[in-house]
Amino acid sequence: MPNVTIIGAQWGDEGKGKVVDWLASRADIVVRFQGGHNAGHTLVVGNQTYKLSLLPSGLVRGKLGIIGNGVVVDPFALLAEIGRVTAQGLKVTPETLRLADNAPLILPLHAALDSAREAARGDRRIGTTGRGIGPAYEDKVARRAIRVCDLAEPETLSAKLDELLLHHNTLLAGLGAPTFDKASLLASLLELAPAILPFAEPVWERLADAKRRGDRILFEGAQAVMLDVDHGTYPFVTSSNTVAGTAASGSGVGPDAVGRVLGIAKAYCTRVGSGPFPTELTDETGRLLGERGHEFGTVTGRRRRCGWFDAALVRQAVKVGGIDGLALTKLDVLDGFAELKIGVGYQIGGKVYKHLPAGVAAQAAAVPIYESLEGWGQSTRGARSWAQLPASAIKYIKRVEELVEAPVTLLSTSPERDDTILMQDPFSN
Ligand code: IMP
Repeated sequence: MPNVTIIGAQWGDEGKGKVVDWLASRADIVVRFQGGHNAGHTLVVGNQTYKLSLLPSGLVRGKLGIIGNGVVVDPFALLAEIGRVTAQGLKVTPETLRLADNAPLILPLHAALDSAREAARGDRRIGTTGRGIGPAYEDKVARRAIRVCDLAEPETLSAKLDELLLHHNTLLAGLGAPTFDKASLLASLLELAPAILPFAEPVWERLADAKRRGDRILFEGAQAVMLDVDHGTYPFVTSSNTVAGTAASGSGVGPDAVGRVLGIAKAYCTRVGSGPFPTELTDETGRLLGERGHEFGTVTGRRRRCGWFDAALVRQAVKVGGIDGLALTKLDVLDGFAELKIGVGYQIGGKVYKHLPAGVAAQAAAVPIYESLEGWGQSTRGARSWAQLPASAIKYIKRVEELVEAPVTLLSTSPERDDTILMQDPFSN
């Protein structure tokens, strides 16, 4: 029985929460392997809506959740989120949640630096979530991060804070932002340590045991391929690798454990934050997509930019992300349009491209080449079989498959868990 890795195939917010939740019910363990509390996964279960940022979605289904070493963990945000979902009736204990002891921490100074730098960028801002994700990953690579395990060693923590504050206070002061006081930061970390440490362990050991037993592991990606720090629309990206290969390095398993890779894509396209978006629609159609799709960020509350499905972009995500099959979500948002468009490539400076080139200016100048398809009048909302889909909706899906060079193996037709059409079970052999 293979494991399954789920990643976003566009710019995030593709509806991963629902698909992860659905697959989590059939997995034994759900693992987060990159990103942090910049992610926002909404899960609708019965009459409860859970908004998760850092916790693995499987917790909602009573499955063991693991936060891997590739995640940047804000311990204050983690405890707050545990408090929130506990109030909704979920059980989050060291029996149900494990945290990599070598995961780097996000501290309040990271969020402060994130915001100060964004403010200083002005019009050139990235549009980050302001959660300190980028600065925390920078500290990890620069070898000065404070990690979960440091909470158990007060002397190490104190010495590492000196190094960290030397760096950050210099930067913050230079940006005209308030600096941080070591004594109060150290005290707050030592105060929360007893609440965090019971969750900490070498999770790679637990995952190795799970693999030996043949447990089903679901790796839950956050953000999406076009926000990948290498493969995305750099510099308008997040600071982690979001492709499927990261599931291995971000949790401490070998590459064979990644298993089948399911990419999630909306039947149209959205993006929050700044950066290129060739098929963006700033007209009435774009507004309508946003309204029908309830396109507001889970984490930021910001309105998402909307546009037509960009098959050239998703094809690129399929290739670099290692996607075996695609879950297409929110098909029902396209109901009622007389004509639909799909981006199949780009015109840039008189040249035609089948992919989005890496250059910033080239990406900004990319004009999409569209293919038109006939829309459908009937509602697809809540459809649970192919037979319930209009012929032109099936044509649309088939054309998507051809263009992105991957099969659509799952179709989601409403936020409800059961409104799903499964063509191929990713957990099956
Ligand atoms: P950061 O991850 O907060 O540094 O933000 C970098 C970029 O990634 C910004 O454009 C954010 O809007 C975007 N981003 C980060 N997390 C998510 C997400 O979960 N969904 C969609 N966009 C995200």
